[in-house]
Amino acid sequence: MTVKLFTPLTIRGVTLPNRVVIPPMDMYCAEDGHATDFHRTHYGKFAFGGAGLVFVEATAVTRTGRITNGCTGIYYDSHVDSFRPITQQIRDMGFKSCLQLAHGGRKAATQRAWQGNGPLTQENLDAGDETWTPLGPSAIAFTDGWLEPKEMTRADMEEVIEAFVVGAHRALAAGFDMVEIHMAHGYLLQSFLTPLANQRTDDYGGSLANRMRFPLEVAVAVRDALPDEVPLFTRISATDWIDGGWEPEDSVELAKLLKQVGVDVVDCSSGGNMLHGATNSNLTRGPAYQAHFAKLLREEAGIMTQAVGLIRTPELAEQLLQDGQADLIAIGRQALFNPYWAHHAAEKLGVTDWDTWPPQYAWWLSKWKRGLGSMDEEPLV
Ligand SMILES: Cc1cc2nc3c(=O)[nH]c(=O)nc-3n(C[C@H](O)[C@H](O)[C@H](O)COP(=O)(O)O)c2cc1C
Repeated sequence: MTVKLFTPLTIRGVTLPNRVVIPPMDMYCAEDGHATDFHRTHYGKFAFGGAGLVFVEATAVTRTGRITNGCTGIYYDSHVDSFRPITQQIRDMGFKSCLQLAHGGRKAATQRAWQGNGPLTQENLDAGDETWTPLGPSAIAFTDGWLEPKEMTRADMEEVIEAFVVGAHRALAAGFDMVEIHMAHGYLLQSFLTPLANQRTDDYGGSLANRMRFPLEVAVAVRDALPDEVPLFTRISATDWIDGGWEPEDSVELAKLLKQVGVDVVDCSSGGNMLHGATNSNLTRGPAYQAHFAKLLREEAGIMTQAVGLIRTPELAEQLLQDGQADLIAIGRQALFNPYWAHHAAEKLGVTDWDTWPPQYAWWLSKWKRGLGSMDEEPLV
């Protein structure tokens, strides 16, 4: 049986050498949006790691769209150069890169993850962080104690659409093979989608069609900004996990429209819109707890999907592909722990193609394996 995880996938003009993806993971340590040495080393590990596609974290299209003061950005021309070494290294190793274009919306101007992910405190501001008024569909704070967002005007929306377009151009200039629009986790675009955050009474609120209007305008504008051969992904929260919120059947409708406007892959995450809804990385859920959403959209909307969320073993990743649940498998936290996850998965699934490793390592490792018979970390005596 063909191992699907290591079967190439062509999306528009780009061929991924395998179906393993490193999903976007914010590192919260950029300098006014610029990627730093930390990012170059961090993504460099993934360039060596064997995943066919490496995402670079949620990257703000405007300065006030940053979730935290430490988020990467693509709002200055100078950001382009800071990403170039990252995309170059991934390309040099034979893999592809994708930049996640994001706007934090009402969850912007908050603390870095390790500071608590909450609203900025006086201590944070004294330490040099800036704060600002975030934007949202309605003037409803994420939860008590968070900043109340400014209800966006049509002019604000046009500015944000333009920022996504400029961000897409800069991403290509920085060498990314494709981009993803962040429409998940309660950030700006998802907050328009869900009735829990969007209580507008104009053309951008109320009915499902109205709530989808602004996110779709962004998708149309970004698609137009990209050459035909460049793939476009969109990450969505397939459900808010809250009664009366965004539901999987809404995601089916959205995915159909995303497909119509030229989005190629829906990256299926969930939650993040309200404090009491489950988050996308909830550990109380079981393995592959979001994969059924990827399957639903793949079947009902006929669009390629990426499954993500507590997928840790090569066997499970392969099974999801064999079952037709998704086209791509993202490995997040497990890859932070083990950046060589994809190489190890190839080993486990019997695809021992040492060519996928950097030759500087492969030469030694192939001999090592022949000698030891196994790469397991077991004592030699
Ligand atoms: C450190 C960290 C940072 C994250 N940052 C982002 C991000 O920038 N954009 C995003 O869409 N999801 C983000 N996520 C969610 C991951 O992309 C992924 O969906 C989630 O961790 C579940 O997958 P996993 O169980 O394989 O880790 C982040 C997760 C982690 C652990």
